[in-house]
Amino acid sequence: MAEPPILVTGATGKSGRRVVARLRAAGHPVRAAARSGEHPFDWTDASTWDAALEGVRAAYVVQLDGTNLVRPFVEQAKKHGVRRIVLASGRGIDDPDYVRDRTGMRDGIADSEAAVRESGLEWTISRPGWFAQNFSEGFFADAIAAGELRLPAGDGAATFVDAADIASVVVAALTEDGHTGQTYELSGPLAVSLAEAVATISAVTGREIRYVPLSTKDYIAELVNQGLPHAEAEIFADVLEPLREGRDAHVSDGVHRALGRPPRSFAEFAETAIWPGKTVDQAGKVESRE
Ligand SMILES: NC(=O)c1ccc[n+]([C@@H]2O[C@H](COP(=O)([O-])OP(=O)(O)OC[C@H]3O[C@@H](n4cnc5c(N)ncnc54)[C@H](OP(=O)(O)O)[C@@H]3O)[C@@H](O)[C@H]2O)c1
Repeated sequence: MAEPPILVTGATGKSGRRVVARLRAAGHPVRAAARSGEHPFDWTDASTWDAALEGVRAAYVVQLDGTNLVRPFVEQAKKHGVRRIVLASGRGIDDPDYVRDRTGMRDGIADSEAAVRESGLEWTISRPGWFAQNFSEGFFADAIAAGELRLPAGDGAATFVDAADIASVVVAALTEDGHTGQTYELSGPLAVSLAEAVATISAVTGREIRYVPLSTKDYIAELVNQGLPHAEAEIFADVLEPLREGRDAHVSDGVHRALGRPPRSFAEFAETAIWPGKTVDQAGKVESRE
């Protein structure tokens, strides 16, 4: 009988698309789900859930932040006979002092963790810190491409984790025994300040890129000037506070516990990431090394 597929939600995102690539490379059938993915799936449209879960044996769940949809989704998954869930969560979820949470996002993710733990299914929780890919694909990518990263993060440092490592841990948890009931806190091997991160990217790309520390007040004013509502600008500033305060500067042992090897360094990430100006050919080689 054909092996039942593994559902990957957030399949076009930073972690999900690497999970899809790794599962496929290992020969596992995958249902790659997102609004724009191969398999159309929308968290906010529950009529898309059954088709995503039909006949699936395991699922990587990348939740829609700011919602409480994982609990009903897990219930639906159980009805479909899904046996294993790996949940994408984040560092600091169980620490009320980690980040100011005006939107209830932290409570939503905490509820997702609780729903998975209480589900009776085989579960694993991935709790990464700041992704290194924020510099190449995410939050900071436009500023890096423009050559100047302006943030209210002072000389704060973080143990940025490579999404390649996150994906490897998720794939291990989806496909191997021995990860059930584990909460893996994931980080890189070393705290890296924003100035150091930018210098590393400058070195591998040969482009001049600057980090400019701003006060929180000036950062919010800049975002508002760019057209962001004040309340949203404050939320961005909140998200950066743990970075400024060094709350994400500790090393966690999740990559080692899950994979039996150390995490990739920021320098390794920078060497293999796709930066503006890299040719498609280089990018192809880079992707295959990731
Ligand atoms: N970035 C970080 O540094 C960091 C650190 C710790 C934890 N996290 C957590 O990690 C998770 C994000 O993971 P990620 O970075 O791998 O994802 P990502 O790169 O932000 O991508 C989000 C994924 O979710 C999909 N998506 C968005 N809205 C959707 C909807 N309404 N219905 C279905 N799919 C939807 C997107 O695809 P479509 O747009 O095509 O639907 C995309 O595949 C979040 O929960 C975040 O809090 C992030």
